Amino acid sequence: MKFFVDTANLKQIEEAQDLGILDGVTTNPSLMAKEGISGVDSVLSHYKAICDLVDGDVSAEVISTDFEGMVREGENLAQIDDKIVVKVPMIKEGIKAIRYFTDNGIKTNCTLVFSAGQAIMAAKAGATYLSPFIGRVDDISWDGMELIEQISNIYAIQGFSTQILAASIRNPLHIVKAAEAGADVCTCPLSSILGLLNHPLTDIGLAKFLADHKKSSN
Ligand code: E4P
Repeated sequence: MKFFVDTANLKQIEEAQDLGILDGVTTNPSLMAKEGISGVDSVLSHYKAICDLVDGDVSAEVISTDFEGMVREGENLAQIDDKIVVKVPMIKEGIKAIRYFTDNGIKTNCTLVFSAGQAIMAAKAGATYLSPFIGRVDDISWDGMELIEQISNIYAIQGFSTQILAASIRNPLHIVKAAEAGADVCTCPLSSILGLLNHPLTDIGLAKFLADHKKSSN
């Protein structure tokens, strides 16, 4: 399973890249706004800065909701760098845009996915990645992980090549469960990735090893 970091914060992206386990980055308009990035030129140069930091795909989301607008924006974004993946919302015009981008050699990430039916539509349009939002499904007391399992089964049975990108990850356990459920990629806040490292027995064990080493070297 690939690891993407879900942020537009350059420091966090750099920290994840330095770990040596990063396969890419996802952003969205809310994450860009959180970093205070606005205006076309700033947005494009921020994406370029992200691409320069990472080895791997960088999802950049369109704001338009009509086909022509999405195509115009997506083509602009794709020119920034080969790493750019155009992120397109799961709506009727978005499906048409994904088909257009696929036919023109531009990678896509179909976002805001909440059902298996939507997952089938995105795969039929040739999306490179599909982003089911696990955390937001859990937030309304449904089971986000069941959705990943269902899509994973459908894609395997049907031989769809679209990669399942588990999104809206809230904690380290989500990452473990997404791996079990068959996600190809997990996009996570840096805190959830770092949370995977933690175990009290590791801390206790290391403290004992170091203490014993200190005793024996006195
Ligand atoms: C996916 O690519 C989105 O950026 C993201 O995972 C949404 O997560 P949220 O529900 O925490 O906003």
